[in-house]
Parts: sequence; structure tokens; C-alpha cells
Amino acid sequence: MEHITVDISKTFGFVSKSIIDGLQNLVKEKNLFLENKTGKGNDFLGWVKLPSSINDEDLEEIENMAKNLARRIDVVVVIGIGGSYLGTRAVYEALSPSFLHLQKNRKFPLILYAGNNIGEDYLSELAEILNSVHYGIVVISKSGTTTEPAIAFRILKNHLEKKVGKEAAKELIITVTDVAKGALRTMAKAEGYKTFVIPDDIGGRYSVLTPVGLVPLAIGGIDIKALVDGARTMEKITGSEVPFEKNPAALYAATRYTLYRLGKKIEILANYENKLHYIAEWWKQLYGESEGKQGKGLFPASVDFTADLHSMGQYIQEGERILMETVLSVKETNNKLTLPSDPENLDGLNFIAGKRIDEINKMAELGTLLAHVDGGVPNIQISIPRLNEYYIGQLLYMFERACGISGYLLDINPFNQPGVEAYKKNMFALLEKPGFEEETKKIRAKL
Ligand code: PA5
Repeated sequence: MEHITVDISKTFGFVSKSIIDGLQNLVKEKNLFLENKTGKGNDFLGWVKLPSSINDEDLEEIENMAKNLARRIDVVVVIGIGGSYLGTRAVYEALSPSFLHLQKNRKFPLILYAGNNIGEDYLSELAEILNSVHYGIVVISKSGTTTEPAIAFRILKNHLEKKVGKEAAKELIITVTDVAKGALRTMAKAEGYKTFVIPDDIGGRYSVLTPVGLVPLAIGGIDIKALVDGARTMEKITGSEVPFEKNPAALYAATRYTLYRLGKKIEILANYENKLHYIAEWWKQLYGESEGKQGKGLFPASVDFTADLHSMGQYIQEGERILMETVLSVKETNNKLTLPSDPENLDGLNFIAGKRIDEINKMAELGTLLAHVDGGVPNIQISIPRLNEYYIGQLLYMFERACGISGYLLDINPFNQPGVEAYKKNMFALLEKPGFEEETKKIRAKL
């Protein structure tokens, strides 16, 4: 079976291959930290062997629930934020038809999102549109206490109960949360909602292959078995015993780390398929929240090409030389479309008539890669055979594994996020949450 590959040859003008190769023992040591649970944050390593340990019965339970719910609804609102949101959206958008929302006879409920912002207009407009559709809710929060999803859930639970009645609403609400603690667990118990558990030893941004991602994705019609299968393949080929040059996670982690040490402080994840936009959003959270601590870490940014070649392209080509670029390159498209010839040729495009649109896209990709490398931006290419569940499962796991290794190379804990608390503390102080009286006084004095 084909798999995702990582090509680092377009970094060799910036760093010699022997320097990257020289890191292989160190990278292996860090990879072993993940396998043997001997590194920092080792109580959050449940994701490392997750793909190979998920059993078919668990997947079938999720699929059966999904089938059962899907029969009764047209739309499912997935409530969550951060790691309880981005993985679902990344996979769903990468694998769904671009104009699914306009399709009349969809086979599966359309996924909409809430709880990932506190926009009053967003929630009002969502509630308005939900008046006219049959919908269900999947509410996801590991802690069960995150403010943004809690607000959205209170609003939509109310809305659904008013619309279909309290008892019927219970059958349309699924929760995904901790096995025992948190307000969401308490509510689920009190109301009798169907609940799936997020394992204790898996943090939010590494949780897409737990019920956090699998439950909503199954409802949305994604083949979760193939997704997990892809991740299983990647688990095998990113293990510490796999030779460095054949291990995509090791190659990726070692190369970006080397470039970082040479002053490349920003990594841009670029795609040439719009559908990968949210894969980049998920990746930004994964790397930003895992690595950005103790004054260290590559800043993860992203661009959608070719659109952003007409905006950020200028900076990438000629701005400050602190950038490296990682390109997600999809080998085969799922559709075929050829540019027709035009006898009048008023647009001057006949020189590419008869070519597949993807061939033109690939030339844009190659031309950009060469230009950026010439302009001082080293390039890593991640090649994805095509967009399907199997390869997206591989991609997700490859990035997770490389992120764990990368964090350990920086000698930080890649599995905590202490910095996220700062805004929450201020927000709670400003909102006068009970227990934050001292903080309220202090913050008021600053204003
Ligand atoms: O990666 C993380 O741990 C975070 O991004 C969380 O996923 C996010 O804060 C949401 O947390 P919770 O699932 O507890 O609501």
C-alpha cells in the first residue's frame, strides 16, 4: 500500500544532508521517549499506540449510533473548541464535497459547528437556521468546563428542547467527555444523554482518533474505519525501529528542528487544495500549543495556494528570511477536468488547452516551490497519494508523532498548555466569576 512521504531534498541548499542525518540517533531517542513513556508529559501518551489499540467493536458502536442518529436528522451541530473541534473539521472538510451544504439529497447529516467562538451574531444566526431543520447535537469537551462550548450548548440545548420537547431532545444529544469529572459529565448523567469517553491519557489536540473526532465524523458519513486504518499504517512506519530515512515523522521532525536552529522561526504549511485549509488549522493548534513554550518553538502559519500567492506570496518571496515552508502536495485528484480549447482564444489560454486543471495546478506548485527556494525559503514536501480517509488518517498520525518528537527535541513538554490559562483568568476576573474576586480587583486596577 502506498503511503505519505516526506521529501527534504529542497532544504539541502540551506543545510547539508549530513547535518540532518547526524540527528538520527537523537531523534530515535526522542521517539523512544514516546514509545516507552520516559519523556516529559508522559501521562498524556495514550495517542501513541491508539491506532493499533482501537478495536473494531468500539468503531462499530460508534457507527451504529451514527446510523441511528443520521436517520432522524439533516444537520448535526458539533459543539467544541481547540482539540475538541479542529480535528473533526479538518477531516470533514478534506473529505467532503466542496458544496455539500447546497446538495439537496445528502446521504448523511451536514456538520455545522458551534462553541468555537463567542460571537453573538454567529450563535443567533445558527439558532435561526436551526429553526427550519431537523438537527442533533454532539457536544465535546474533555474537561467538561470550557466556557465557549458550555455557552453554545446552553443556548442550543434550550433551542432544541423548545423545538422538539425535552424528552425528544435527549435522544438527539450525544456527549463526548471525561469518564467521571466535569460539568458536561454531570449533565450527561442527569439528563441520560448517550455518552462516549475521552481517554484520560490523551490531550485535546492529539484526540482526533478518539470519540472526539470519530463520533461526529461517523455521523457526517466519514469512513472512520479507513481513517483509523491509515493511522495504523503510519503508527508502524514512524516507530523508533524504522530507519531514519524511511520514517516520515523522524525526517520531518529532524529537518524542521535543524532549520529552526538556523534561524527559520516560522513554518508555513501550504496547500494547493482548498479542502486542506482546516488540516492546516488543526496542524497549527497541534504545533503551536505543543511547542510554543519557554520562549521556544517555530511559529506555525498557513497559506492556501494559489489564492495566497496573490496576498502572502510577496512576503514569502522577499520578506524577512525567517521562513521555512512545508507543502502538502496531493498527487492524484478525485475528479478529472480538462481546459477546453477556444477557437477565438480571446483570453489567450489556448497554450494550456487540453491540459488537466490539476496539471496546471501542479506547475503552479512546482514553479512556486522553485521560486521560494531561490528566494531563501527552504521547502519540505509532504506527498499525499490522494484525498481519502486512509491517507488523511496517515497524515494526522504522522503529524502527531513528529510533533511529539519535535517537542522533545526542544526539551519542552509537548503535552501541556499552561499559557492558555492566562486569557481565561482575565476573562473570568472581568466577568466576576465566583472564586476570582482577587483577580477581579487586580484587573480592575489595571483598567
Ligand atoms: O489541546 C487542548 O488540550 C486544548 O486545545 C483543548 O482541546 C481545548 O481547550 C478544549 O478543551 P476541552 O475539550 O476540555 O473543552
